[in-house]
Amino acid sequence: MKDILNVGLIGYKFMGKAHSNAFHRIGMFFNPSVEIKTKAICGRDEEWVSQAARQFGWESYETSWEKLVQRDDIHMVDITAPSNAHKEIAIGAAEAGKHVFCEKPLALNLKDAREMLKVVRDKGVKHQIGFNYRFAPAVQLAKKLIDEGKLGTIYHFRGLYLQDWIIDPEFPLVWRLDKNVAGSGSLGDLGAHLIDLARFLVGEFDKVIGMNKTFIKERPIVEKMTGLSGKAQENAARGKVTVDDATLFLTEFKNGALGSFEATRFAQGHKNGMSFEINGSKGSIKFEFERMNELLYYNASDEEGVQGFRLIQATEGIHPYMHAWWPTGHVIGYEHTFVHELYEFVEAIANDTPAAPDFEDGVKCSQVLEAVDTSIEEKQWIEVDSL
Ligand SMILES: NC(=O)c1ccc[n+]([C@@H]2O[C@H](COP(=O)([O-])OP(=O)(O)OC[C@H]3O[C@@H](n4cnc5c(N)ncnc54)[C@H](O)[C@@H]3O)[C@@H](O)[C@H]2O)c1
Repeated sequence: MKDILNVGLIGYKFMGKAHSNAFHRIGMFFNPSVEIKTKAICGRDEEWVSQAARQFGWESYETSWEKLVQRDDIHMVDITAPSNAHKEIAIGAAEAGKHVFCEKPLALNLKDAREMLKVVRDKGVKHQIGFNYRFAPAVQLAKKLIDEGKLGTIYHFRGLYLQDWIIDPEFPLVWRLDKNVAGSGSLGDLGAHLIDLARFLVGEFDKVIGMNKTFIKERPIVEKMTGLSGKAQENAARGKVTVDDATLFLTEFKNGALGSFEATRFAQGHKNGMSFEINGSKGSIKFEFERMNELLYYNASDEEGVQGFRLIQATEGIHPYMHAWWPTGHVIGYEHTFVHELYEFVEAIANDTPAAPDFEDGVKCSQVLEAVDTSIEEKQWIEVDSL
């Protein structure tokens, strides 16, 4: 019989639902080394959290995270609360001896992220951060091609993360637009994913310089909200938007490659338009999240006359994670990235192997985020390691 891993989840909205789904799917598709039990879910509103427990299949619920992390029957804590709650909960969980998975960005700022890393290391618990886009099979294939040298020397990383959900000036002041809760706007929310993918695929950042803009400076206040939606009453009072609506920045990587990044919530027509292109001496790759089963690959040594970007459907059993799903060509979606990342975390706990991306990756991402902010304030290049 397998050992049991009891999970406690904090948060039950967007990410809470994505992670709940993932915990149920892991056992069904991946045959993990332990049996996962969705033991308890936590939120502050009893009516909502009890409903979520029933709907998402959790055995019990708590209305205080402090209580959840102290429960003897919880082995792992998964944090899907907004960013201002990450530090306190992650440290509380680690101090109670629980393994910790935390959504991105790791914390409100670099200092807090470093504190979280120190505590999980001191306590010897496993830790992982929710950079789920790494776990799309086509992104894993991109990593494999790069590691095998198929792209040669990397010259460029070009990353875009384009959304349009707050273009309407009447869209309310949700928590994602409040620096005290979110840490930052488009940069920390969207840019953080691009930074992680660039670190994963190209390498460490050397220096950065950026610019940003808050196009709509005040918005209607709402009482009850989630991170992505909410409706203000007519004539509601207005509050200040304290984060960036769009951030653009340039980088030079330590290996000499150049990078450009654009993260915006004001790109009309784009919903979750995350994409990147990498160009090397021997070839190029292109990935677009909204066509996440595909990878475009250009091999410069293909025969003349038939050269061009080839479209690879990363849905064959030989592609990472695809053996567990459906026959070739039967595509997978957004929710599968969470299944893959949480499966890896569960395996790291069960087999006492390193988890990745871990809180150190979270700290390194926060270091780049903070360097971009500092470069914008000081209007100059900032060396990432200087922070
Ligand atoms: N990996 C990704 O692609 C991705 C996508 C969206 C959000 N996120 C990250 O996930 C986190 C949550 O975002 P979301 O969109 O799910 O937000 P959300 O607003 O939809 O849900 C937040 C949840 O946290 C709960 N919560 C808030 N404070 C709490 C507290 N003190 N104690 C217990 N529960 C608390 C709320 O009740 C709610 O259930 C953020 O850090 C965000 O950056 C990651």
